[in-house]
Amino acid sequence: MVRSALAATALLSRGRQVNAVPGEVADTLQKRLAADAQRPQYHFLPKANWVNDPNGPIYWKGYYHLFYQYSSTIEPQGPKYWGHARSKEMVYWEHLPMALAPTLGGPDKDGCWSGSAFSNNGVPTFVYTGVFPQVQCLASSDDNLIAWKKVSGNPVVGSPPAGLEVTGFRDPSIWRESGSWLMTVGAGFQGRGGAVLLYESKDLAHWEYVHPLFTGPPFEQRDSAPASSYDAVDAGDMWECPDFFPLGQKHVLMVSTQGRVHYLTGTYSERKFQAETHGLIDGSVLHYAAKSFADDQGRRILWGWVREARSAAAQNSAGWSGAISLPRILSIDAEGALHMDPLPELARMRGRHHRIAGAEVSGFLPAPQIQGSSLEIQLTMDLGDAHEGGISVRRSPGAGEEETTISYEAATQNVVLATGRSSLSPDADGGTYRAALKLKPGEPLRLSVFLDASVVEVFANGRTCLTGRIYPLRSGSLGVGIFAKGGRARVKSLDAHEMKAISGDRLTT
Ligand code: FRU
Repeated sequence: MVRSALAATALLSRGRQVNAVPGEVADTLQKRLAADAQRPQYHFLPKANWVNDPNGPIYWKGYYHLFYQYSSTIEPQGPKYWGHARSKEMVYWEHLPMALAPTLGGPDKDGCWSGSAFSNNGVPTFVYTGVFPQVQCLASSDDNLIAWKKVSGNPVVGSPPAGLEVTGFRDPSIWRESGSWLMTVGAGFQGRGGAVLLYESKDLAHWEYVHPLFTGPPFEQRDSAPASSYDAVDAGDMWECPDFFPLGQKHVLMVSTQGRVHYLTGTYSERKFQAETHGLIDGSVLHYAAKSFADDQGRRILWGWVREARSAAAQNSAGWSGAISLPRILSIDAEGALHMDPLPELARMRGRHHRIAGAEVSGFLPAPQIQGSSLEIQLTMDLGDAHEGGISVRRSPGAGEEETTISYEAATQNVVLATGRSSLSPDADGGTYRAALKLKPGEPLRLSVFLDASVVEVFANGRTCLTGRIYPLRSGSLGVGIFAKGGRARVKSLDAHEMKAISGDRLTT
Protein backbone atom coordinates (compact mmCIF):
# COMPACT_ATOMS: atom_id res chain seq x y z
CA MET A 1 0.00 0.00 0.00
CA VAL A 2 1.25 3.46 -0.80
CA ARG A 3 0.63 5.79 2.09
CA SER A 4 1.30 9.50 1.90
CA ALA A 5 4.23 10.78 3.94
CA LEU A 6 1.90 13.07 5.85
CA ALA A 7 -0.42 10.23 6.81
CA ALA A 8 2.57 8.17 7.93
CA THR A 9 3.77 11.07 10.04
CA ALA A 10 0.40 11.52 11.70
CA LEU A 11 0.31 7.85 12.68
CA LEU A 12 3.84 7.96 14.01
CA SER A 13 3.28 10.98 16.14
CA ARG A 14 0.41 9.18 17.84
CA GLY A 15 3.05 6.70 18.90
CA ARG A 16 1.79 3.72 16.89
CA GLN A 17 4.14 1.29 15.22
CA VAL A 18 4.37 2.18 11.53
CA ASN A 19 6.76 0.55 9.15
CA ALA A 20 6.99 3.62 6.94
CA VAL A 21 10.00 4.41 4.81
CA PRO A 22 10.81 8.11 5.09
CA GLY A 23 9.29 9.91 2.20
CA GLU A 24 6.95 7.11 1.18
CA VAL A 25 5.16 8.95 -1.57
CA ALA A 26 2.13 8.79 -3.77
CA ASP A 27 2.59 7.63 -7.37
CA THR A 28 2.00 11.07 -8.87
CA LEU A 29 4.67 12.70 -6.72
CA GLN A 30 7.02 9.80 -7.38
CA LYS A 31 6.65 10.33 -11.15
CA ARG A 32 7.25 14.06 -10.78
CA LEU A 33 10.37 13.45 -8.69
CA ALA A 34 11.71 10.88 -11.16
CA ALA A 35 11.37 13.45 -13.97
CA ASP A 36 12.90 16.32 -11.98
CA ALA A 37 16.11 17.43 -13.72
CA GLN A 38 17.33 19.16 -10.53
CA ARG A 39 17.13 16.03 -8.39
CA PRO A 40 20.50 14.38 -7.70
CA GLN A 41 20.95 10.92 -9.16
CA TYR A 42 23.89 9.55 -7.18
CA HIS A 43 23.80 11.49 -3.93
CA PHE A 44 21.83 9.98 -1.09
CA LEU A 45 18.50 11.61 -0.32
CA PRO A 46 15.14 10.41 0.99
CA LYS A 47 12.44 9.44 -1.48
CA ALA A 48 10.79 12.83 -1.01
CA ASN A 49 10.44 15.76 1.37
CA TRP A 50 13.06 17.26 3.64
CA VAL A 51 16.50 16.10 4.78
CA ASN A 52 19.05 18.01 6.81
CA ASP A 53 21.87 16.72 9.04
CA PRO A 54 23.46 13.30 8.65
CA ASN A 55 23.08 11.56 12.03
CA GLY A 56 24.74 8.62 13.76
CA PRO A 57 26.72 6.99 10.95
CA ILE A 58 27.87 3.56 12.12
CA TYR A 59 29.24 0.32 10.71
CA TRP A 60 27.31 -2.63 12.08
CA LYS A 61 27.74 -6.26 11.07
CA GLY A 62 28.33 -5.91 7.35
CA TYR A 63 26.38 -2.69 6.69
CA TYR A 64 27.11 1.00 6.86
CA HIS A 65 24.11 2.67 8.44
CA LEU A 66 23.30 6.29 7.85
CA PHE A 67 20.58 8.14 9.75
CA TYR A 68 19.46 11.64 8.92
CA GLN A 69 17.18 14.46 10.00
CA TYR A 70 13.95 13.98 8.10
CA SER A 71 10.74 15.96 7.96
CA SER A 72 7.61 15.39 5.93
CA THR A 73 7.25 19.15 5.55
CA ILE A 74 9.61 21.23 3.46
CA GLU A 75 10.77 23.74 6.02
CA PRO A 76 13.68 23.91 8.43
CA GLN A 77 11.28 24.08 11.40
CA GLY A 78 9.30 20.91 10.63
CA PRO A 79 9.25 18.26 13.42
CA LYS A 80 12.28 16.04 12.90
CA TYR A 81 12.48 12.26 12.60
CA TRP A 82 15.52 10.06 12.10
CA GLY A 83 15.40 8.57 8.62
CA HIS A 84 17.50 5.46 8.05
CA ALA A 85 19.33 3.81 5.16
CA ARG A 86 22.00 1.17 4.92
CA SER A 87 24.62 0.26 2.37
CA LYS A 88 27.24 -2.39 1.78
CA GLU A 89 29.76 0.07 0.33
CA MET A 90 28.45 3.63 0.97
CA VAL A 91 27.49 4.05 -2.69
CA TYR A 92 24.18 2.19 -3.17
CA TRP A 93 21.65 2.69 -0.40
CA GLU A 94 18.63 0.82 0.82
CA HIS A 95 15.93 2.90 2.50
CA LEU A 96 14.72 1.49 5.81
CA PRO A 97 11.86 2.41 8.14
CA MET A 98 12.25 5.55 10.20
CA ALA A 99 14.43 4.91 13.21
CA LEU A 100 13.11 7.63 15.52
CA ALA A 101 9.89 9.62 15.64
CA PRO A 102 8.67 12.13 18.23
CA THR A 103 6.72 10.56 21.11
CA LEU A 104 3.57 12.39 22.12
CA GLY A 105 4.08 13.82 25.62
CA GLY A 106 7.73 12.69 25.68
CA PRO A 107 10.90 14.79 25.96
CA ASP A 108 11.20 14.59 22.15
CA LYS A 109 7.55 15.44 21.47
CA ASP A 110 8.55 18.30 19.15
CA GLY A 111 11.33 16.49 17.35
CA CYS A 112 14.23 14.05 17.48
CA TRP A 113 17.19 16.24 16.66
CA SER A 114 20.74 15.36 15.73
CA GLY A 115 22.99 12.95 17.56
CA SER A 116 25.18 9.89 17.32
CA ALA A 117 25.09 6.10 17.21
CA PHE A 118 27.43 3.86 19.18
CA SER A 119 27.81 0.37 20.54
CA ASN A 120 26.92 0.04 24.22
CA ASN A 121 28.62 -3.30 24.94
CA GLY A 122 27.26 -4.70 21.68
CA VAL A 123 23.84 -3.01 21.83
CA PRO A 124 23.25 -0.42 19.07
CA THR A 125 22.44 2.83 20.86
CA PHE A 126 21.57 6.42 19.92
CA VAL A 127 22.19 9.55 21.91
CA TYR A 128 20.19 12.44 20.46
CA THR A 129 18.52 15.71 21.34
CA GLY A 130 14.83 15.87 22.17
CA VAL A 131 13.01 19.20 21.80
CA PHE A 132 11.56 21.44 23.32
CA PRO A 133 13.36 22.32 25.60
CA GLN A 134 16.62 20.82 24.29
CA VAL A 135 17.50 17.73 26.32
CA GLN A 136 19.63 14.63 25.68
CA CYS A 137 17.96 11.25 25.18
CA LEU A 138 18.92 7.63 24.56
CA ALA A 139 17.41 4.86 22.46
CA SER A 140 18.60 1.35 21.72
CA SER A 141 17.74 -1.24 19.13
CA ASP A 142 17.84 -4.83 17.98
CA ASP A 143 20.80 -6.08 15.97
CA ASN A 144 19.30 -4.98 12.65
CA LEU A 145 19.07 -1.37 13.82
CA ILE A 146 15.42 -1.38 12.80
CA ALA A 147 13.35 -1.49 16.01
CA TRP A 148 14.46 1.39 18.20
CA LYS A 149 13.19 1.80 21.77
CA LYS A 150 13.65 4.95 23.78
CA VAL A 151 14.89 4.40 27.32
CA SER A 152 12.40 4.99 30.13
CA GLY A 153 14.82 7.32 31.93
CA ASN A 154 14.75 9.95 29.15
CA PRO A 155 15.88 12.65 29.16
CA VAL A 156 19.23 11.50 30.56
CA VAL A 157 20.44 15.11 30.60
CA GLY A 158 17.44 17.33 31.25
CA SER A 159 19.01 20.80 31.26
CA PRO A 160 22.27 22.65 30.59
CA PRO A 161 24.75 22.86 33.47
CA ALA A 162 23.43 24.90 36.40
CA GLY A 163 24.41 28.55 36.20
CA LEU A 164 25.23 28.54 32.47
CA GLU A 165 23.07 30.73 30.20
CA VAL A 166 23.46 28.94 26.88
CA THR A 167 22.29 29.79 23.37
CA GLY A 168 21.47 26.13 22.68
CA PHE A 169 22.11 22.66 24.06
CA ARG A 170 22.14 19.94 21.44
CA ASP A 171 23.70 17.38 19.07
CA PRO A 172 25.54 14.98 21.41
CA SER A 173 28.49 12.90 20.28
CA ILE A 174 29.95 10.16 22.45
CA TRP A 175 33.01 7.96 23.00
CA ARG A 176 34.45 5.55 25.54
CA GLU A 177 37.52 6.58 27.53
CA SER A 178 39.19 4.85 30.49
CA GLY A 179 36.07 3.13 31.75
CA SER A 180 33.78 6.15 31.30
CA TRP A 181 31.44 7.47 28.65
CA LEU A 182 32.40 10.94 27.46
CA MET A 183 29.92 13.11 25.60
CA THR A 184 30.11 16.51 23.94
CA VAL A 185 27.07 18.75 23.55
CA GLY A 186 26.94 21.81 21.28
CA ALA A 187 26.17 25.10 23.03
CA GLY A 188 27.27 28.74 23.16
CA PHE A 189 27.16 31.97 25.08
CA GLN A 190 25.35 34.98 23.67
CA GLY A 191 27.77 37.45 22.10
CA ARG A 192 30.79 35.49 23.36
CA GLY A 193 30.90 32.56 21.00
CA GLY A 194 30.12 28.89 20.68
CA ALA A 195 30.98 26.21 23.20
CA VAL A 196 31.40 22.47 23.26
CA LEU A 197 30.40 21.11 26.67
CA LEU A 198 31.98 17.92 27.97
CA TYR A 199 30.03 15.41 30.07
CA GLU A 200 30.99 12.15 31.73
CA SER A 201 29.00 9.10 32.79
CA LYS A 202 29.70 5.61 34.12
CA ASP A 203 26.37 4.09 33.11
CA LEU A 204 24.88 6.35 30.36
CA ALA A 205 21.97 7.13 32.69
CA HIS A 206 23.66 9.61 35.06
CA TRP A 207 25.77 12.37 33.58
CA GLU A 208 28.08 14.90 35.12
CA TYR A 209 29.22 18.10 33.49
CA VAL A 210 33.04 18.19 33.35
CA HIS A 211 33.90 21.54 31.72
CA PRO A 212 33.81 23.20 28.30
CA LEU A 213 36.00 21.16 25.96
CA PHE A 214 36.38 24.25 23.81
CA THR A 215 34.79 27.69 23.60
CA GLY A 216 34.62 30.66 21.17
CA PRO A 217 35.17 33.53 20.36
CA PRO A 218 33.53 33.17 16.97
CA PHE A 219 35.88 32.24 14.15
CA GLU A 220 36.79 35.18 11.98
CA GLN A 221 35.16 35.40 8.59
CA ARG A 222 37.62 33.97 6.12
CA ASP A 223 36.13 35.67 3.05
CA SER A 224 36.25 39.38 2.64
CA ALA A 225 32.80 39.41 1.02
CA PRO A 226 29.84 37.25 2.06
CA ALA A 227 29.24 34.50 -0.50
CA SER A 228 25.49 34.45 -0.08
CA SER A 229 22.67 35.43 2.21
CA TYR A 230 23.47 32.46 4.50
CA ASP A 231 26.66 34.21 5.61
CA ALA A 232 24.68 36.76 7.52
CA VAL A 233 24.07 34.14 10.22
CA ASP A 234 27.69 33.04 10.64
CA ALA A 235 27.81 34.81 14.02
CA GLY A 236 29.06 31.66 15.69
CA ASP A 237 27.52 32.17 19.10
CA MET A 238 26.00 28.70 18.92
CA TRP A 239 28.06 25.70 17.82
CA GLU A 240 25.95 22.88 16.47
CA CYS A 241 26.90 19.27 15.77
CA PRO A 242 30.28 19.07 17.53
CA ASP A 243 32.23 16.01 16.39
CA PHE A 244 35.41 15.04 18.24
CA PHE A 245 37.70 12.19 17.23
CA PRO A 246 41.32 11.02 16.99
CA LEU A 247 42.98 11.21 13.58
CA GLY A 248 46.59 10.18 13.07
CA GLN A 249 48.57 11.50 16.05
CA LYS A 250 46.09 14.34 16.67
CA HIS A 251 42.51 15.01 17.69
CA VAL A 252 39.99 16.88 15.55
CA LEU A 253 37.07 18.97 16.76
CA MET A 254 34.48 20.01 14.16
CA VAL A 255 31.74 22.52 14.90
CA SER A 256 28.92 23.90 12.74
CA THR A 257 28.68 27.61 13.47
CA GLN A 258 25.29 28.23 11.82
CA GLY A 259 27.38 29.36 8.85
CA ARG A 260 30.11 26.92 7.94
CA VAL A 261 31.72 23.86 9.43
CA HIS A 262 35.03 24.72 11.09
CA TYR A 263 37.61 22.27 12.30
CA LEU A 264 40.40 22.47 14.83
CA THR A 265 43.18 19.95 15.10
CA GLY A 266 45.30 19.65 18.20
CA THR A 267 46.11 17.49 21.16
CA TYR A 268 43.80 15.92 23.70
CA SER A 269 44.84 14.70 27.09
CA GLU A 270 43.27 14.60 30.54
CA ARG A 271 39.97 15.68 29.07
CA LYS A 272 41.43 18.93 27.74
CA PHE A 273 41.72 19.85 24.10
CA GLN A 274 44.57 22.10 23.00
CA ALA A 275 43.84 23.45 19.49
CA GLU A 276 46.75 24.06 17.13
CA THR A 277 45.31 24.44 13.62
CA HIS A 278 42.05 25.87 12.33
CA GLY A 279 40.41 25.31 8.95
CA LEU A 280 37.14 24.86 7.11
CA ILE A 281 35.55 21.58 6.12
CA ASP A 282 34.12 23.38 3.10
CA GLY A 283 34.53 26.91 1.84
CA SER A 284 30.81 27.13 1.20
CA VAL A 285 27.89 27.44 3.57
CA LEU A 286 26.00 24.88 1.50
CA HIS A 287 27.84 21.93 3.09
CA TYR A 288 26.74 21.94 6.71
CA ALA A 289 26.28 19.91 9.90
CA ALA A 290 29.11 17.52 9.01
CA LYS A 291 29.26 14.23 10.88
CA SER A 292 31.96 11.57 10.77
CA PHE A 293 32.57 7.98 11.83
CA ALA A 294 35.32 5.36 11.74
CA ASP A 295 34.52 2.59 9.28
CA ASP A 296 35.47 -1.08 9.55
CA GLN A 297 38.85 -0.35 7.91
CA GLY A 298 39.64 2.44 10.37
CA ARG A 299 39.02 5.17 7.80
CA ARG A 300 37.51 8.40 9.10
CA ILE A 301 34.60 9.24 6.81
CA LEU A 302 32.55 12.39 6.80
CA TRP A 303 29.15 13.35 5.42
CA GLY A 304 27.43 16.72 5.41
CA TRP A 305 24.03 18.18 4.63
CA VAL A 306 23.99 19.77 1.18
CA ARG A 307 21.62 22.69 1.62
CA GLU A 308 19.43 24.23 -1.03
CA ALA A 309 20.13 27.61 -2.58
CA ARG A 310 16.74 28.32 -4.05
CA SER A 311 13.56 29.88 -2.74
CA ALA A 312 11.30 28.10 -0.25
CA ALA A 313 8.54 28.25 -2.86
CA ALA A 314 10.73 26.44 -5.40
CA GLN A 315 11.63 23.77 -2.80
CA ASN A 316 7.97 23.31 -1.92
CA SER A 317 6.84 22.93 -5.47
CA ALA A 318 9.69 20.47 -6.14
CA GLY A 319 8.49 18.29 -3.23
CA TRP A 320 11.98 17.69 -1.83
CA SER A 321 14.80 19.64 -0.21
CA GLY A 322 18.40 18.87 0.69
CA ALA A 323 20.76 15.98 0.05
CA ILE A 324 23.56 14.20 1.86
CA SER A 325 27.03 14.97 0.50
CA LEU A 326 29.32 12.38 -1.00
CA PRO A 327 31.39 10.61 1.66
CA ARG A 328 34.84 12.16 2.20
CA ILE A 329 37.84 10.42 3.70
CA LEU A 330 39.73 12.54 6.20
CA SER A 331 43.42 12.45 6.90
CA ILE A 332 45.83 14.86 8.53
CA ASP A 333 49.13 16.27 7.29
CA ALA A 334 52.33 17.18 9.12
CA GLU A 335 51.07 20.74 9.70
CA GLY A 336 47.85 19.45 11.26
CA ALA A 337 45.66 20.47 8.31
CA LEU A 338 42.89 18.13 7.22
CA HIS A 339 43.01 16.44 3.85
CA MET A 340 39.76 15.40 2.25
CA ASP A 341 39.33 12.96 -0.60
CA PRO A 342 36.25 11.43 -2.15
CA LEU A 343 35.62 7.85 -1.04
CA PRO A 344 37.37 5.62 -3.64
CA GLU A 345 34.30 3.34 -3.80
CA LEU A 346 32.47 6.19 -5.59
CA ALA A 347 34.33 5.05 -8.72
CA ARG A 348 31.75 2.25 -8.95
CA MET A 349 29.32 4.77 -10.37
CA ARG A 350 31.62 5.65 -13.25
CA GLY A 351 30.35 4.95 -16.75
CA ARG A 352 31.66 6.20 -20.09
CA HIS A 353 35.08 7.86 -19.95
CA HIS A 354 36.48 10.80 -21.96
CA ARG A 355 40.05 12.05 -21.78
CA ILE A 356 41.89 15.16 -22.89
CA ALA A 357 45.65 15.18 -22.45
CA GLY A 358 48.29 17.78 -23.10
CA ALA A 359 46.21 20.78 -24.24
CA GLU A 360 47.35 24.40 -24.13
CA VAL A 361 44.59 26.86 -23.21
CA SER A 362 44.36 30.58 -23.54
CA GLY A 363 40.82 31.93 -23.46
CA PHE A 364 38.05 29.33 -23.74
CA LEU A 365 38.47 25.79 -25.07
CA PRO A 366 35.20 23.89 -25.48
CA ALA A 367 35.23 20.12 -24.84
CA PRO A 368 32.25 19.16 -27.01
CA GLN A 369 32.76 15.42 -26.51
CA ILE A 370 31.90 15.86 -22.80
CA GLN A 371 28.32 16.73 -21.93
CA GLY A 372 26.13 16.15 -18.95
CA SER A 373 24.60 16.88 -15.59
CA SER A 374 25.91 13.69 -14.00
CA LEU A 375 29.68 13.73 -14.32
CA GLU A 376 32.89 13.31 -12.39
CA ILE A 377 35.63 15.48 -13.88
CA GLN A 378 39.26 15.36 -12.83
CA LEU A 379 41.39 18.19 -14.11
CA THR A 380 45.13 18.57 -13.65
CA MET A 381 46.35 21.95 -14.82
CA ASP A 382 49.45 24.11 -14.66
CA LEU A 383 48.37 27.71 -14.57
CA GLY A 384 51.51 28.87 -16.42
CA ASP A 385 51.35 32.64 -16.79
CA ALA A 386 47.54 32.73 -16.64
CA HIS A 387 46.11 34.55 -13.63
CA GLU A 388 43.05 32.29 -13.50
CA GLY A 389 42.31 28.89 -14.99
CA GLY A 390 39.77 26.14 -14.58
CA ILE A 391 36.69 24.55 -16.05
CA SER A 392 33.25 25.61 -17.08
CA VAL A 393 30.38 23.15 -16.61
CA ARG A 394 26.60 23.06 -17.17
CA ARG A 395 27.17 25.63 -19.88
CA SER A 396 24.38 26.55 -22.25
CA PRO A 397 25.22 26.37 -25.97
CA GLY A 398 26.38 29.50 -27.80
CA ALA A 399 27.21 32.43 -25.59
CA GLY A 400 26.93 30.40 -22.38
CA GLU A 401 24.27 32.50 -20.63
CA GLU A 402 24.07 29.73 -18.08
CA GLU A 403 27.41 28.51 -16.81
CA THR A 404 29.12 27.37 -13.61
CA THR A 405 32.87 27.75 -13.24
CA ILE A 406 35.43 26.17 -10.97
CA SER A 407 38.82 27.82 -11.14
CA TYR A 408 42.01 28.83 -9.39
CA GLU A 409 42.87 32.49 -8.91
CA ALA A 410 46.63 32.95 -8.71
CA ALA A 411 46.55 36.39 -7.08
CA THR A 412 44.30 35.38 -4.18
CA GLN A 413 45.44 31.72 -4.04
CA ASN A 414 41.80 30.75 -3.95
CA VAL A 415 39.79 27.99 -5.52
CA VAL A 416 36.61 29.67 -6.72
CA LEU A 417 33.23 28.09 -7.41
CA ALA A 418 31.11 30.67 -9.22
CA THR A 419 27.39 29.93 -9.39
CA GLY A 420 26.13 33.47 -9.96
CA ARG A 421 25.39 32.67 -13.62
CA SER A 422 24.44 29.01 -13.15
CA SER A 423 20.75 29.65 -13.62
CA LEU A 424 18.55 32.18 -15.37
CA SER A 425 15.84 31.38 -12.82
CA PRO A 426 15.03 34.18 -10.35
CA ASP A 427 14.45 31.44 -7.72
CA ALA A 428 18.10 30.37 -7.70
CA ASP A 429 20.39 32.04 -5.15
CA GLY A 430 23.79 31.89 -6.84
CA GLY A 431 27.00 33.00 -5.22
CA THR A 432 30.78 32.92 -5.42
CA TYR A 433 32.35 30.49 -2.99
CA ARG A 434 36.05 30.53 -2.21
CA ALA A 435 38.50 28.26 -0.46
CA ALA A 436 42.13 29.09 0.23
CA LEU A 437 44.63 26.76 -1.44
CA LYS A 438 48.36 27.50 -1.42
CA LEU A 439 49.96 25.55 -4.25
CA LYS A 440 53.52 24.47 -3.57
CA PRO A 441 56.18 25.47 -6.14
CA GLY A 442 55.60 23.31 -9.23
CA GLU A 443 52.42 21.78 -7.82
CA PRO A 444 49.66 21.69 -10.45
CA LEU A 445 46.02 22.43 -9.69
CA ARG A 446 44.14 19.15 -9.23
CA LEU A 447 40.37 19.45 -9.24
CA SER A 448 37.86 16.64 -8.77
CA VAL A 449 34.43 17.95 -9.63
CA PHE A 450 31.29 15.93 -9.03
CA LEU A 451 28.25 17.18 -10.90
CA ASP A 452 24.95 15.64 -9.93
CA ALA A 453 21.98 17.62 -11.25
CA SER A 454 21.69 20.60 -8.85
CA VAL A 455 24.64 19.50 -6.65
CA VAL A 456 28.28 20.40 -7.36
CA GLU A 457 31.05 19.11 -5.09
CA VAL A 458 34.64 20.18 -5.65
CA PHE A 459 37.76 18.64 -4.11
CA ALA A 460 40.92 20.68 -4.76
CA ASN A 461 44.34 19.03 -4.38
CA GLY A 462 42.90 16.87 -1.59
CA ARG A 463 43.23 19.87 0.71
CA THR A 464 40.08 21.88 0.38
CA CYS A 465 36.47 21.49 -0.74
CA LEU A 466 33.66 23.62 -2.11
CA THR A 467 30.02 22.63 -2.43
CA GLY A 468 27.47 24.47 -4.54
CA ARG A 469 23.90 24.26 -5.76
CA ILE A 470 22.96 25.09 -9.33
CA TYR A 471 19.58 25.01 -11.00
CA PRO A 472 20.07 25.62 -14.72
CA LEU A 473 16.79 26.42 -16.47
CA ARG A 474 17.79 25.37 -19.96
CA SER A 475 17.72 21.68 -20.74
CA GLY A 476 20.73 22.17 -23.02
CA SER A 477 22.95 23.60 -20.25
CA LEU A 478 25.21 20.55 -20.24
CA GLY A 479 28.41 21.80 -21.89
CA VAL A 480 31.94 21.57 -20.53
CA GLY A 481 34.98 23.68 -21.41
CA ILE A 482 38.38 24.66 -20.07
CA PHE A 483 39.53 28.24 -19.69
CA ALA A 484 42.55 30.34 -18.86
CA LYS A 485 42.51 34.11 -18.36
CA GLY A 486 45.38 36.54 -18.80
CA GLY A 487 47.87 34.00 -20.14
CA ARG A 488 48.43 30.45 -21.28
CA ALA A 489 47.73 27.45 -19.04
CA ARG A 490 48.52 23.81 -19.69
CA VAL A 491 46.00 21.02 -19.17
CA LYS A 492 48.03 18.00 -18.16
CA SER A 493 44.94 15.83 -18.21
CA LEU A 494 41.19 16.00 -17.99
CA ASP A 495 39.30 12.81 -17.27
CA ALA A 496 35.53 12.88 -17.34
CA HIS A 497 33.30 10.00 -16.37
CA GLU A 498 29.59 9.90 -16.94
CA MET A 499 28.12 8.85 -13.60
CA LYS A 500 25.40 6.25 -13.19
CA ALA A 501 22.31 6.86 -11.11
CA ILE A 502 22.29 4.86 -7.88
CA SER A 503 18.73 3.93 -8.87
CA GLY A 504 15.67 5.33 -10.59
CA ASP A 505 13.86 6.22 -7.38
CA ARG A 506 16.95 6.42 -5.16
CA LEU A 507 15.71 3.23 -3.43
CA THR A 508 18.63 0.94 -3.97
CA THR A 509 19.81 -2.47 -2.95
C1 FRU B 1 21.90 21.64 12.40
C2 FRU B 1 20.71 21.52 13.34
C3 FRU B 1 21.10 20.83 14.65
C4 FRU B 1 19.79 20.27 15.11
C5 FRU B 1 19.15 19.85 13.82
C6 FRU B 1 17.65 19.95 13.79
O1 FRU B 1 21.50 21.79 11.08
O2 FRU B 1 20.15 22.79 13.60
O3 FRU B 1 21.70 21.69 15.58
O4 FRU B 1 19.95 19.20 15.99
O5 FRU B 1 19.69 20.68 12.81
O6 FRU B 1 17.14 19.39 12.62
